[in-house]
Amino acid sequence: MPDLKLYMAPIRGVTDHVFRNAFAEHFGGFDLAVAPFIPSKRDNSVKKKYVRDLWPENNPAMPVIAQILSNAATDFVILANYIYDLGYQTVNWNLGCPYPMVANKKRGSGLLPHTDRIHEFLEYAIPRLKGDLSIKLRLGWQTHEDIFRLIPVLNQFPVKELIIHPRTGIQRYHGKPDLDALDQCLGQVHHPVVYNGDIRTLGDFRRLSLRFGNLDRWMIGRGAIADPFLPMTIKAGKNDVRDRAYLMKRFHDTLVDRYMVILDGPGHVLNKMKGLWQYFSLFFPDCGTALKKIKKSRTPEQYRERVEMLFDEHVEYADGMNKEEQGSTGMNIKI
Ligand SMILES: Cc1cc2nc3c(=O)[nH]c(=O)nc-3n(C[C@H](O)[C@H](O)[C@H](O)COP(=O)(O)O)c2cc1C
Repeated sequence: MPDLKLYMAPIRGVTDHVFRNAFAEHFGGFDLAVAPFIPSKRDNSVKKKYVRDLWPENNPAMPVIAQILSNAATDFVILANYIYDLGYQTVNWNLGCPYPMVANKKRGSGLLPHTDRIHEFLEYAIPRLKGDLSIKLRLGWQTHEDIFRLIPVLNQFPVKELIIHPRTGIQRYHGKPDLDALDQCLGQVHHPVVYNGDIRTLGDFRRLSLRFGNLDRWMIGRGAIADPFLPMTIKAGKNDVRDRAYLMKRFHDTLVDRYMVILDGPGHVLNKMKGLWQYFSLFFPDCGTALKKIKKSRTPEQYRERVEMLFDEHVEYADGMNKEEQGSTGMNIKI
């Protein structure tokens, strides 16, 4: 697949600029990242931390598409144009967020049943935007009927691409992606489509790319945080990375060092890193006890010591994954 493009999915709380840069420097494999969403506000204010995450000087390692969560076209246009002025070519509209706090306000995937509102939004926004618009969406809020009502509307507008996660909002991350419904969508959508959802191994990618042979754009989120070697493995078509535990540890240490510089004190760094272990722990089978200790660390020193121990104890497991065959990373990643 010569033109294969891999996108890092936005994962709020994880894939900030520190993570995106460190990932690109240590592993590579991704062609670009979509940044986690920035909510648009009625008063057109935006938190400095969101803007800082997008500053071009903070994003040297990987091209980035910014993302906005909004149901108000006027607010969206103001925020998006501010982002284009920072140097961004594309802004993504989030129509996928499934959390009730968001969706109940008709934002994210909660807006998907409201075809007319989406139509009006695009009619107002698109002529006023200084750059390209892409959309990340699910199949619907409660049912995939939403997307089939929506596609004829989307087809009328010059949207750069659609990133589709083939679940409904109420499914959140449960159940399986509905590949049959996606298949049907692909027959109707005029825009380029990026597939997103549950790619955890090279085997998963191969199965999906066999089924959707026309797709050349793929987005990976949780699978690549749990196994950062996955994008490069997919690109190489084989799983032969050596010294995985060593590389993973270097990546981890880079994150800690950089968060120490930008976050407001060691407590925040600890919280950030403990959150990441929800995913990193999937890299190490049977690390329950060590993980508990890491999560109970009270100081950065204690944290580093305990992480060191976990890596020491599990180095063989992690490196043993190199030997897995059949194109799988060998992990049973349950996220
Ligand atoms: C904790 C968490 C935070 C997320 N934050 C965002 C976000 O800010 N914007 C977005 O479009 N999707 C967000 N997503 C959805 C992911 O981008 C992606 O669509 C989803 O995880 C499915 O892909 P995956 O199976 O490859 O992880 C988030 C998902 C999770 C689990």
